[in-house]
Amino acid sequence: MTNLSVNIKSNEKSYPIFIEDEDTALLKEKILSFVEGRNFLVIISEKVEKLYGKTLKFPKENVFILKDGEKEKNFNNYKKITERALKMKLTRKDAFIAIGGGVVGDLTGFAASTYMRGIDFIQVPTTLLACVDSSVGGKTAIDTDYGKNLVGTFYQPKAVFINPNFLKTLDERQFKTGLGEVVKYSFIEKSCKCEEDLNLTNFLSEKAEMIVNRDERVLSKLIEICVKLKISVVEKDEKEGGLRRILNFGHTYGHAIEKITKYKKYTHGEAIVEGMKFAFNLAVKRNLIDKNYKFLAEDVIKKFNFVDIPEFDMEKMIELMQMDKKATFDKIVFILPTDYSTVEAFELDSKDLL
Ligand code: GLY
Repeated sequence: MTNLSVNIKSNEKSYPIFIEDEDTALLKEKILSFVEGRNFLVIISEKVEKLYGKTLKFPKENVFILKDGEKEKNFNNYKKITERALKMKLTRKDAFIAIGGGVVGDLTGFAASTYMRGIDFIQVPTTLLACVDSSVGGKTAIDTDYGKNLVGTFYQPKAVFINPNFLKTLDERQFKTGLGEVVKYSFIEKSCKCEEDLNLTNFLSEKAEMIVNRDERVLSKLIEICVKLKISVVEKDEKEGGLRRILNFGHTYGHAIEKITKYKKYTHGEAIVEGMKFAFNLAVKRNLIDKNYKFLAEDVIKKFNFVDIPEFDMEKMIELMQMDKKATFDKIVFILPTDYSTVEAFELDSKDLL
């Protein structure tokens, strides 16, 4: 078992992250001992409930099943969850437990941060993307008709239980979308300022086949590396005042791809992989990096066979990028590579892109 912890110094918040590939029945015991003596509401993805509900065996009255899909991260489900908790008479001393991917984690976290002005919550991520990214760091959100994640809070969980066992049953596309975020960490590693030298790029090159074949030990190690990098960033900048922006590498153009295709055609990971390729090209054009690094990066990406995404009308893409919540006035914020595994934030004018 790997035990990590996140220490947010500004407000002395700290929480453990457990990474253990274990039987789901054992995992349940650990979760329950964490909430011992308190009442709790489990918010679980429908798919995960179908696959693991019988072994997890949480009492029915403590379970809220959330349908799968990004469209479920909405105000209506927020209302249903909080009303269910009210009906159960949960107090501020009780807890929410999120079991699922990013949608379940983000929505539960948001509900937890506002229920009685804040109730404890535990993250149990079951997708690769949630294991390496969304379950760690305390971003919570719901989607609106005006865009994704526009209503949300920074609210750290009380604990994160990562069990790579869940990844065995993850469908290929969902697994790949998580790999998109994994590859991202390799291009930002040095900028994460982690004390330990983790060398994710080497790990990805050497273990690509085992990763794709979901070798359990390799996946555990991979998750551990990514989580250590994310912890390092979040500990230094919880609320995205500066350093945390680097986690958005590939996201500026990637979010525009998701928007222009109405969130239907490509997964988040697929879109950000294309966004990273765009960022590498832009960095070469602006003489920030040499072409060799761009080719090396493209080789790493190729190892994981991501889907090819065609180019879109640049003027439309710029318009969408200007609407991003990270954009300021008419400037678009891009995280661009400046050296091997190093990135920096740049504010660019639309004319720089055309
Ligand atoms: N997913 C980016 C972040 O947590 O900041």
